[in-house]
Amino acid sequence: MNIVMIGSGYVGLVSGVCFADFGHQVTCVDKDESKIAALKAGRIPIYEPGLQDLVAKNARDGRLSFTTDLAGPVKAADAVFIAVGTPSRRGDGHADLSYVYAAAREIAHAVEGFTVVVDKSTVPVGTGDEVERIIREENPGADVSVCSNPEFLREGAAISDFKRPDRIVVGTTDERARAVMNEIYRPLFLNTSPMIFTDRRTAELIKYAANAFLAMKITFINEVADLCEKLGADVQQVARGIGADNRIGAKFLHAGPGYGGSCFPKDTLALVKTAQDHDSPMRLIETTVAINDQRKRAMARKIVRAAGGDIHGRTIAVLGLTFKPNTDDMREAPSLSIIQGLVDAGAKVRAYDPEGTEQARPLLEGVTFCRSPYEAAEGASAIAIVTEWDQFRALDLARLKDVMAEPVLVDLRNIYQAEEVTRHGFAYTSIGRGL
Ligand code: UGA
Repeated sequence: MNIVMIGSGYVGLVSGVCFADFGHQVTCVDKDESKIAALKAGRIPIYEPGLQDLVAKNARDGRLSFTTDLAGPVKAADAVFIAVGTPSRRGDGHADLSYVYAAAREIAHAVEGFTVVVDKSTVPVGTGDEVERIIREENPGADVSVCSNPEFLREGAAISDFKRPDRIVVGTTDERARAVMNEIYRPLFLNTSPMIFTDRRTAELIKYAANAFLAMKITFINEVADLCEKLGADVQQVARGIGADNRIGAKFLHAGPGYGGSCFPKDTLALVKTAQDHDSPMRLIETTVAINDQRKRAMARKIVRAAGGDIHGRTIAVLGLTFKPNTDDMREAPSLSIIQGLVDAGAKVRAYDPEGTEQARPLLEGVTFCRSPYEAAEGASAIAIVTEWDQFRALDLARLKDVMAEPVLVDLRNIYQAEEVTRHGFAYTSIGRGL
């Protein structure tokens, strides 16, 4: 199949390169000339394990190319995917669809022959209808079928998620589009990936409902964790105990400092707004959003308490800045609210992140960025693990203690056991382990 991917952000780039790796001919289009120039030179604008090598391999084999020219490749395409950004619109929290609609207009003028136009960006219900309307208005003769194909990959595990998805959701009731989408995803059938065909609006809602449910699941276990601390129970055991029930499922039950990232915060907010607009409020999600916002700030207070209550003029070390490990993405990272809270309480913050420092620097003024956990810990009254990068799982605790002013470890990701830390003379605080 001949595929055009419009938008070379996370989803576009990963989807494009994986389709190419399945043997399809893929052209990735982006308006950002410097991004395209970098990609052509083999430089990847994001940190995602395995992506660089996969791009290089498919570009070398001639299945993957990059361009700023949309019209040429779209002419020859069987399917054109729209994978541009849909950020939260400033002010009202709705998804900003201007990039999606601009792409639709350009596609309308370029298509030739039957072409499936696929919304891969996370878009509110009804966007597919509007994309179709725009294309028909701009070019009444265009032979297109617009379908929705939301993406469920996670940053940091994007390639394996894309290649081994739990399901592929395609919103179309058009047989010709269905045949093209089947052909595009056929290489995955070997892994018995179930295709779920629905109408377009339902597919669009599935994406929001999935992310909102996962955000709610995380928030649920986070509240259970708070209760565990009060009751002297262990949230990890509770998660194991409830997760073993298939109706609940074991995944996304890790208590932590609150969810962040480019998706859950934005998508929950957009769903809340859509539901309110349609007089069908989603109160569970409204509450989820509020709890999660408060939680990030509460984590700073937890660190202050662990450090003795007054951190004015003292140093706090923060390990991990990105919203999760294996990415350099700082969007809505809990570290941002936490560090702001620490700074507001008068602390000097020293931080270390394996991949996110460059992205974090402009967002965290006044923070000292360090090159290792040990450098960050120098003179600190407490060290807080905010993101669970693997390299933090086996820290040399004796070495850390030597350089710190006071041996206090706040583990917001529960990657240590209390005994191993206290054995080294640390005071240890974690999440939801009240025992
Ligand atoms: C999320 C979804 O998991 C993907 O299925 C979806 O495709 C994606 O959003 C999207 O809409 O594009 P992502 O944001 O990359 O993926 O990362 P997650 O692994 O879901 O983590 C999101 C946040 O939840 C992180 O801050 C993470 O630390 C937190 N989290 C996750 C927890 O606190 N506990 C958990 O058990 C799981």
